[in-house]
Amino acid sequence: MPETTPYPLPSDEWSPQSWRNRDAAQQPDWPDAADYDATLKELSGYPPLVFAGESRALTNALGGVADGRAFLLQAGDCAESFEAFSADSIRERLKVILQMAVVLTYSVGVPTVKVGRIAGQFAKPRSSNTETVDGVELPSFRGHLVNDIDFSAAARLPVPGRMLRAYNQSAATLNLVRAFTTGGFADLSRVHQWNQQFVATSPEGRRYEQLANEIDRALRFMEACGLDHETVPALHQADVWTSHEALVLGYEEALTRRDSLTGDWYDCSAHTVWIGERTRQLDGAHMEFFRGIRNPVGCKIGPTASADEVLELCEALNPGRVPGRLTLITRMGADAITDGLRPLLRAVTDAGHPVVWACDPMHGNTFTAPSGRKTRHFDAILAEIAGFFEAHRAEGTWPGGVHVELTGDDVTECLGGAEDLLDDDLGLRYETMCDPRLNGRQSLDLAFRVAELLRAS
Ligand code: TRP
Ligand code: MN
Repeated sequence: MPETTPYPLPSDEWSPQSWRNRDAAQQPDWPDAADYDATLKELSGYPPLVFAGESRALTNALGGVADGRAFLLQAGDCAESFEAFSADSIRERLKVILQMAVVLTYSVGVPTVKVGRIAGQFAKPRSSNTETVDGVELPSFRGHLVNDIDFSAAARLPVPGRMLRAYNQSAATLNLVRAFTTGGFADLSRVHQWNQQFVATSPEGRRYEQLANEIDRALRFMEACGLDHETVPALHQADVWTSHEALVLGYEEALTRRDSLTGDWYDCSAHTVWIGERTRQLDGAHMEFFRGIRNPVGCKIGPTASADEVLELCEALNPGRVPGRLTLITRMGADAITDGLRPLLRAVTDAGHPVVWACDPMHGNTFTAPSGRKTRHFDAILAEIAGFFEAHRAEGTWPGGVHVELTGDDVTECLGGAEDLLDDDLGLRYETMCDPRLNGRQSLDLAFRVAELLRAS
């Protein structure tokens, strides 16, 4: 059993700055302290991106997932990019999330809580502070919030002004997401239009068309029965919430505000944020920051986590045992999931902690292909999800949701799937700045498979 340092109880003095008294892993080495401080000061005067009441509504929705009455779909980019910033790119990502959500909701018959890795997913943890190429050592790329990906000293220099740009891009992205999801684009009568050209002609796409036809019929049926579908807002709008890994704590601190209605603190950079596997030390700065914000929060759990460690995380992050406050996102790898997850499910259930269990089938299944590209195989992703469902069935717990990296575009980054992408194909359209993402077809295929597993569980 690993020894853990005692962490402060939630009654201890907390402030948006109190994380500064602890060790903060994975923080950029900002070269100009004055510039950094001035940037945070400016940011702290900007309007919040989300409203605390929205975060409370999301906690409620996730409470439904914790109780087994809803399913969580959390999906989007590994890392958002300052370059791939356009209405088209936002719309395509939204389309695939809506498609997957409609497949899950229609096939399983429970609401799908839709959370994007979007409008703020700009910072990445790295295994090493520096990267060496041909004898040249430079700081690692930490996401567009911090520096640039090109391998040059100028590009890799952390620039505080990037935080302002990340804020602005998040604001514009969130604005379009809100416009699309409330302005008619997410209306269920448009279910056919979310199917993209390159997907529509594939087997997954045809299967989706059939499901969309059934939804059309159901809508006409309801109308014929006198239920005026024009006046039922739930059929016209969808909630799509935002999320990212809250990694760079200065940025998160600057966007943390006290809610005037309740007096509670909320990190208003997104509706929900998560702590990564690399930064969840119980006595670390990220835990300190997270315990004081009232947003629903997530925590990644890797294959080496012990039941005791996970219980301590639950106590630290959700001492009030509020359903929906805490989502545990397991990322174990297809081989480790069945044996690794069951003891955790048992311990957390026995302790009476109401958590949302989400399966991240991506990060435990990454490897370098012979071509040298970082990839994942569709079959391993599916196998981890199947193992996740199996473990929950065995323990009598609810497999709350999935957390996946995807894009709506026709990229070639993950192997396998119905079109059976091979290593040789990866070079065709390998566009990710960070981890390999499922493309539109693979994502839709995954939604159908997850729906089948859910129905069987
Ligand atoms: N409002 C419901 C929901 O968000 C139904 C709905 C409307 C929906 N548009 C959607 C569901 C698009 C999934 C996708 O769940
Ligand atoms: Mn990733």
